[in-house]
Amino acid sequence: MKRVIVTGGAGFIGSNFILYELKKDPEIFIVNVDKLTYAGNLENLKEVENDPRYVFRQMDICDAEGVSALFDEFDIDTVINFAAESHVDRSISDPMVFIRTNVLGTATLLNIARDKWSDGNGGFREGVKFLQVSTDEVYGSLGPEGFFREDTPLDPHSPYSASKASADLIVKSYYDTFRMPVNITRCSNNYGPYQFPEKLIPLMINNCLNHRELPVYGDGLQIRDWLYVEDHCKAIDLVVREGEVGQVYNIGGHNERTNLFIVNSVISYIHDNQDETVDESLIRHVTDRKGHDRRYGIDPQKIHDALGWEPETMFENGIRKTIRWYLDNGEWIDGVVSGAYQKYYDEMYRGR
Ligand code: NAD
Ligand code: DAU
Repeated sequence: MKRVIVTGGAGFIGSNFILYELKKDPEIFIVNVDKLTYAGNLENLKEVENDPRYVFRQMDICDAEGVSALFDEFDIDTVINFAAESHVDRSISDPMVFIRTNVLGTATLLNIARDKWSDGNGGFREGVKFLQVSTDEVYGSLGPEGFFREDTPLDPHSPYSASKASADLIVKSYYDTFRMPVNITRCSNNYGPYQFPEKLIPLMINNCLNHRELPVYGDGLQIRDWLYVEDHCKAIDLVVREGEVGQVYNIGGHNERTNLFIVNSVISYIHDNQDETVDESLIRHVTDRKGHDRRYGIDPQKIHDALGWEPETMFENGIRKTIRWYLDNGEWIDGVVSGAYQKYYDEMYRGR
């Protein structure tokens, strides 16, 4: 990978990935293609904005003409598609934007890449790759036993996960039909710096710091498998460089926790290190998410055996680093919890 389009590079995982790659690979050239929705934030990339190996273009991935011109302008050989509407709760209130970006946007990128990378003989140029960043939510929900493997049948429940599963199937079809060099990665819940405070961990941190109630959906005993974002970035880097084409790789942290455990971890760090008045009395159980998946758990054996990847950051260390980052970056949080966020918060949580 030399000349890469990273879509959604101003979002949480995309910006962490760009920062990671520019540190790691002196030869890389990255074009960050991002529409800058509410979730996109160029502040995340301040330290690299003048790097000659990095260019930002504000663009919708559904804009076929615009994307096509970028392939020509930069002679792109790799696409890593992070761009998505990513928040399950928003997909329940407003599904159509998820279908548009996650399904149509992915298909648009894929189709342009196929055209640009054609070798003129029904095959593809050497060294090209399309990586679709997907999610474990496409597998649906687990009972108390078992794990998601790459051959677990897709059974998405929310409009978000259904749109991601649809995109995965379109990417798969380009391999099955055209033998286009693609990979799909399916990762569990990420946490770390630059995550928008609609997601569980940064929302709870922000609420603790503002002495707001901590809204736990239902009984709070739902389970997610948490992975520090840098470990996810390392896995994507390995798959894009060394992954066998046509393969799906699950990525997970061996780190299943209940939501209540996560919320209590945030409370206890802030109580001990920042503000003694923050405690469990802030927790409020609120109406559950519609169609709420009970448990996610990833079996990451395949990526471990094939590419030697394993998570490096233990949860206790990762959560400390993450909360510390939010405490040290108050300006970043203030910037993102502006008027639009307050409106979202009120609509999502008021009277719930
Ligand atoms: P995010 O919401 O923080 O960022 C998404 C980015 O995509 C934003 O910068 C946004 O501006 C951009 N975007 C949205 N619509 C666009 C469009 N039409 N054209 C161009 N850009 C657009 O998301 P995230 O949490 O960083 O997730 C990134 C990817 O990883 C997503 O595909 C998501 O499904 C997947 N994923 C996320 C997690 C997680 O825990 N956050 C876990 C597994 C997989
Ligand atoms: O599993 C990977 C997925 O993880 C990604 O594909 C998604 O893009 C990402 O948003 C995330 O989805 P979740 O729905 O698991 O994440 P979220 O942070 O929204 O919620 C985590 C859990 O916490 C979930 O069980 C719902 C619960 N929750 C969430 C919020 C925001 C609460 O109890 N209260 C809350 O206020």
